[in-house]
Amino acid sequence: MIHNEAVLILDFGGQYSQLIARRVRDLNVYCEIKSYKTTAEQISAAGYKGIIFSGGPNSVYAEDSPICDKKVFELGIPVLGICYGAQLMSYSLGGKVQSSEVREYGKTPVDFQTTSLLFQGLEDRSDCWMSHTDYISAVPSGFKITATSGNCPVAAMENTEKGLYALQFHPEVEHSVRGNEMLRNFLYNVCKCSGDWVMSSFALTTIEQIKATVGDKKVICALSGGVDSSVAALLVHKAIGKNLTCIFVDHGMLRKNEGDDVERVFRNQFDMNLIRVNAQERFLTKLAGVDEPEKKRKIIGEEFIRVFEEEANKIGHVDFLCQGTIYPDVVESGVGDAAVIKSHHNVGGLPEDVGFTGIVEPLRNLFKDEVRRVGLELGIPAPLVWRQPFPGPGLAIRIMGEITSEKLEILKDADAIFREEIVEAGMDRNINQYFAVLTGIKSVGVMGDGRTYDNTIALRGVTTSDFMTADWARIPYDLLAKISSRIINEVKSVNRVVYDITSKPPATIEWE
Ligand code: XMP
Repeated sequence: MIHNEAVLILDFGGQYSQLIARRVRDLNVYCEIKSYKTTAEQISAAGYKGIIFSGGPNSVYAEDSPICDKKVFELGIPVLGICYGAQLMSYSLGGKVQSSEVREYGKTPVDFQTTSLLFQGLEDRSDCWMSHTDYISAVPSGFKITATSGNCPVAAMENTEKGLYALQFHPEVEHSVRGNEMLRNFLYNVCKCSGDWVMSSFALTTIEQIKATVGDKKVICALSGGVDSSVAALLVHKAIGKNLTCIFVDHGMLRKNEGDDVERVFRNQFDMNLIRVNAQERFLTKLAGVDEPEKKRKIIGEEFIRVFEEEANKIGHVDFLCQGTIYPDVVESGVGDAAVIKSHHNVGGLPEDVGFTGIVEPLRNLFKDEVRRVGLELGIPAPLVWRQPFPGPGLAIRIMGEITSEKLEILKDADAIFREEIVEAGMDRNINQYFAVLTGIKSVGVMGDGRTYDNTIALRGVTTSDFMTADWARIPYDLLAKISSRIINEVKSVNRVVYDITSKPPATIEWE
């Protein structure tokens, strides 16, 4: 536990475990997600103020369904069970869970007893999000029913004496209109949290911790200009100043003006020790004649490490490597046997055997929206804090086929116009990722009196919450028209612009 006041989210494999955690953090309470296998002793030793059981896809009666240590209910720590977590509470304590004929799914009106601490201040009926087949048919002794719905005799139950609460629906999901207040009531009325998780104090504490860990040793960081590496580097810089060296490898496949923008912010505004390596030629030489996407990725990844190492060697001995790893990268899987660590998907995974004494990962416990809030606290300009995700190999995977400096120029110009217009229309926060693609298709056109045979630019814009699935963004026609005509008029050798209207799946977000 990294914070003095924390709540535990015990994960039973539910798809919403991270969402529960984000909601709790938004309510200013620090929380951690741990596997349901965590023992009562471990939980007790960590001193949590409350425990939330996540949902999960199983039935409590199924043979190998996840069941937690029963002693968890006896620790005197308040528990809130959600969906599967609610059924498990009932089942473990002697209540009954049954399977119904039909799955109850979607927005459902629920009737509440507002005398319950959990529902204090709410109206006695509101819509909640249900997603279950099993339901609690009889509550364990000592419990009373505090909410019901048409299909659900026990939409909520509680044993106030033992501090045990259960909800059949998902309060963490937006469609549960008063769900957030219920979570707030649990955290503040039941668990008596004080709500001390705020980003300003996170930044101050983290800077102190880095000072204590690193002392007067040297740290190195690969800065990409993305929000995670930027915020991580800035926290370290605030802690140790010039003992941090940031290496910014400009592989030439960044967006228009991006390299200069990164340099201006970190060197000029924050006075950081920044080395910018302009390595476009070097990367283009390696990429000459290569048109296969995975090969491009591999070449760029490897070359990136080589450039980084060369620069690092010039600095001399370095003790720590700073990385922008964030919580979703490291959070344990609730039901898997081993902790699943997602490989860092960003610019070139850095080598592990470079001989550092340690790794500094100041954002390891934060969600992306928290990283952004810290970034704003530290004074990083808003456009950088809200920057859309950008793949490590950059524009290389947005140019179909071989990459040349001419193609890069065309794509950079078209992409800049697209981005500028989306920002100008105030849509940049609503579209999660948007960019131009140089399709490699040439087609016939007519411009002035002449026939042309030129490039086709595709525009891609998606809305998504996790980038695993995505829908194409409904950009208004008039805006698309303006973008198209600007690209045709202002970018040389483009005579056609198309908009990609494919969701993911079946397509991916990137074209390569
Ligand atoms: P796809 O195209 O797989 O993209 O739907 C999902 C998200 O991942 C990003 N992406 C990458 N990021 N290196 C990265 O750092 C890569 O090779 C890479 N490929 C895709 C993509 O931009 C989107 O946000």
